[in-house]
Amino acid sequence: MLKSHSCGELSRKDVGAEVTLAGWVDRRRDHGRLIFIDLRDREGVVQVVFNPETSASCHKVASEMRNEYVVTVSGEVALRPPGTENPKLPTGDIEVIAHNTVILNPSKTPPFYINEDIEVEENLRLKYRYLDLRRARMKENLLLRHQAVKFIRDFLDARGFIEVETPILIKSTPEGARDYLVPSRIHPGKFYALPQSPQQLKQLLMVAGVEKYFQIARCFRDEDTRADRQPEFTQLDLEMSFVEEEDILNLMEELFTSMVETIKPEMRVLKPFPRLTYAEAMERYGTDKPDLRFGLEIGDLTDIAAQSDFSIFRSAIADGGKVKGICAPGCGNYTRSQLEELNRLAQSLGAGGLVTMSLGAAGGGLNDLTIEMVKSVAARFLTLDQIKQMAHRLGADMGDLLLIIAGKPGLVDMTLSGLRQEVGQRLKLAAPNLFAFAFIQNFPLLRWDEEAGRWDSEHHPFTAPRDEDVPLLDSAPGKVRGKHYDLVCNGYEIGGGSLRIYTSELQKKLFKLLGYSDEEVEERFGHMLEAFQYGAPPHGGIALGIDRIVMLLAGEETIREVIAFPKNQSAADLTFNAPSPVSEQQLAELHLRLREER
Ligand code: AMO
Repeated sequence: MLKSHSCGELSRKDVGAEVTLAGWVDRRRDHGRLIFIDLRDREGVVQVVFNPETSASCHKVASEMRNEYVVTVSGEVALRPPGTENPKLPTGDIEVIAHNTVILNPSKTPPFYINEDIEVEENLRLKYRYLDLRRARMKENLLLRHQAVKFIRDFLDARGFIEVETPILIKSTPEGARDYLVPSRIHPGKFYALPQSPQQLKQLLMVAGVEKYFQIARCFRDEDTRADRQPEFTQLDLEMSFVEEEDILNLMEELFTSMVETIKPEMRVLKPFPRLTYAEAMERYGTDKPDLRFGLEIGDLTDIAAQSDFSIFRSAIADGGKVKGICAPGCGNYTRSQLEELNRLAQSLGAGGLVTMSLGAAGGGLNDLTIEMVKSVAARFLTLDQIKQMAHRLGADMGDLLLIIAGKPGLVDMTLSGLRQEVGQRLKLAAPNLFAFAFIQNFPLLRWDEEAGRWDSEHHPFTAPRDEDVPLLDSAPGKVRGKHYDLVCNGYEIGGGSLRIYTSELQKKLFKLLGYSDEEVEERFGHMLEAFQYGAPPHGGIALGIDRIVMLLAGEETIREVIAFPKNQSAADLTFNAPSPVSEQQLAELHLRLREER
């Protein structure tokens, strides 16, 4: 090795030791006679002193050093002179008195500061990702990801799971997104699809008798990127045979509680994880991935609104819609422009508009409320009693603000869920240092796809229906609940799984319900149906988004911050400039011809 020690590991105990270090110049300060360099490697930073009286040649080399030069330094560890210690630096008690140094490689001036945690335009960071990753925060994120994945591997290994790799060049796996396709050179006109997840492969491993499988698996989905979505992402994929739903949920609860205890002991986890049915989550929070770090539950006001003379409420209800609301505590004094902002947010979430109702000034009880105190376009059309009933239902008090949406049920839920998130953030309602995990269960098995005019899977077509709902598959498919569960945390869906169909007959029935013809079923899923005829055990599993989990552990806002080389917001890799054109020859080998862009 070109070094005897890491920069960050040196401390008082090394005083007097002769060390050789290698790393990057983090900062250089030239005090004329003395030159100071903060030398950085993966483990941290240490101060190096170049004194012309110790070594004139060394001092001369140091005068040529600039930020990000790669250098080696040999010298003696010494206590810093009293009063010059730096308590902010773990190595701040000591310094290295250099007597030998070599510049191994100079560096151009980097396009942004490596040694400061300042905001840099993201596309610039992604173009120079290798420099961005040198920054302390990113280095910590990489380390955290390594620790999380190692923890998962050890945890599952200790419980009898084995990691099995599955192919990347495979066939379309329906998980609800578009496939990435890879043209075959050997089979003209044919394509592999990159797996959206190893779903079918892990089920085949259960038929193969593996019993307890996991994989840190790369998945590919051609869908629009978002803060928590990448075209290429990583799952902890897991499957077990002879399991019941409880076994998987308990395993997940144990995995996440012990992982947080080990990796982020400063964070709290509430045990047992609450369990909500899908219907309950939608009713109380308007979403199937509620942020449970705060309350602010949605209240249904439809029955009260139906009694009012307010035309917006009445016409929404007449159209089969709902009137629902939440309470923004202490926001009764919001200004016109603050209310307008909330209204715009509601509209951007799809609602026609937002009805706000300010309940006077704080103090006293709702009994003191008079109609004159209520500020709202709806106030004239409601009785004081109706307003009080609404306030009561939303848990509001004097000085609060009611946010009410009228319209189609799905839209009302979605808008209120967005408003709830916004109010929670503005008022900093989320309990600090808390990972609020919860399981969501009893999802509908199928959802009606308006555009395609057919049923689609809520999760994927391998999810088993609840036993008691199987008869409804023929009579009322929309009412069938699936053996599907999601794991959510702080408003993110971090995992989803299910108990699977494992008989060929039921699986065929499901495919038929989804509108596949017999030929399509045979062509796309024949291998699964056949496998189920050779003694497939009952099985089930789950997949967890590693990127989202590490994002939450790191306290980051996007998964791009915890992926070494992510795609940018328009799905491009800026370091490599991918995707990029290919040569005519490559296209010809793949039997492809590009269409002229019109
Ligand atoms: P699902 O499609 O719900 O289930 O995916 C499981 C988890 O993977 C993460 N995830 C993503 N993370 C980043 N970018 C994306 N584009 C992305 N898409 C999904 C989420 C999600 O909860 N085969 C089934 C699992 C099973 O049934 O066992 C599946 O893939 O955290």
